[in-house]
Amino acid sequence: MISESPHERKHPRRRPLVRTALALALAGAMATAGVVALSGTASAQTTLGSAAASQGRYFGTAVAANRLGEQDYVSTLNREFSSVTAENEMKWDALEPSQGAFNFANGDRIAQHAASQGMELRGHTLVWHSQLPGWVQNLSGDSLRSATENHINEVMGHYRGQISAWDVVNEAFEENGTRRQSVFQQRLGDGYIAEAFRMADAADPDAQLCYNDYNIESVNAKSNAVYDLVRGLKAEGVPIDCVGFQSHFNSGNPMPGNFHENLQRFADLGVDVQITELDIAGSGSSQAEQYQGVVQACLAVSRCTGITVWGVTDKYSWRPNDTPLLFDGSYQKKPAYDAVIAAFTGGLSGRDSAGAASISFREAIRPEDTLLT
Ligand code: G3I
Repeated sequence: MISESPHERKHPRRRPLVRTALALALAGAMATAGVVALSGTASAQTTLGSAAASQGRYFGTAVAANRLGEQDYVSTLNREFSSVTAENEMKWDALEPSQGAFNFANGDRIAQHAASQGMELRGHTLVWHSQLPGWVQNLSGDSLRSATENHINEVMGHYRGQISAWDVVNEAFEENGTRRQSVFQQRLGDGYIAEAFRMADAADPDAQLCYNDYNIESVNAKSNAVYDLVRGLKAEGVPIDCVGFQSHFNSGNPMPGNFHENLQRFADLGVDVQITELDIAGSGSSQAEQYQGVVQACLAVSRCTGITVWGVTDKYSWRPNDTPLLFDGSYQKKPAYDAVIAAFTGGLSGRDSAGAASISFREAIRPEDTLLT
């Protein structure tokens, strides 16, 4: 384990007080009363956000600005989630489509919605090879470095005080653990990741700074490479605070059995870990079991601070045919929803074929006692 360094100073921005207080009050009341709650009936106030908050975690979702006019979307979002990530609106191509010309309108819509609801806001993402405007890809090394610094300064400066954690660098590795040959890698060299984190720290000293990637949820060549990166950054005193595990799962790439051990080895480096883009292809009990496993993996690691699913409803998922989310296309709760609530609150989940909930919550809301054995 690496000891805490002077850079080990950022903790998650405090969750908005209203939501946290309500969630903790609910959890406390349930615990003392030994409540047996039925999701979707009398105690329907239990939500993803309140269930996660009862365990000191946030529960977030990716949001698309152009869905914020849809009533069912917004009511589900507002009721259930305590954190928001802009699905596309804070990416480089959205915010700075031509050099020096920033357009914050859609990002601001999401930021304002999150603030109006007392939700946390994750920033996604500053340095990424994809959704990168053409003008960036045509720059020489020195110009690319200064354009990157300017982008980070402008974007993080604009949202300073509103963002709990930024995905500073996204998806920098190939599956075999080598560096992805992005324009940043090719023109700036291996040091570009450390440079980006230092620029980000200067632009917003209060936001948590994360490295974010997919297919790093198990121990494999790619996660080993990210682990070595984070260990090296920490050893050099580079200000990195967290690692995001995207967690896009499907039948060929299911939730790994060693997820929590892998999260723990990263946490032992002195960073928080977050599940940042969770979605799981499938349906019914097999999907529900995997969702439950993800929550259990996070709860097993004290530095796993929260979970974000990559969308509110299957209808608008980036992979809609996989039906990977917690609400179906009609905003009905799926068995996976019940499984997530149960994993946070220590209950057993179930939803019959008619869609009626049959969750029961145990007296003590301590899932570690029963679910992690
Ligand atoms: O905005 C245009 C719209 O004007 C146009 O009419 C339409 C036509 O197809 O395209 C729209 O842009 C799309 C954009 O999503 C907004 O809907 C792009 O084509 C589409 O490629 C883009 O997909 C996004 C994808 O990132 C791009 O890489 C997904 O919504 C988004 O969920 C996905 O998110 C990524 C994370 O950022 C990083 N990790 C993987 C994850 C899933 O791919």
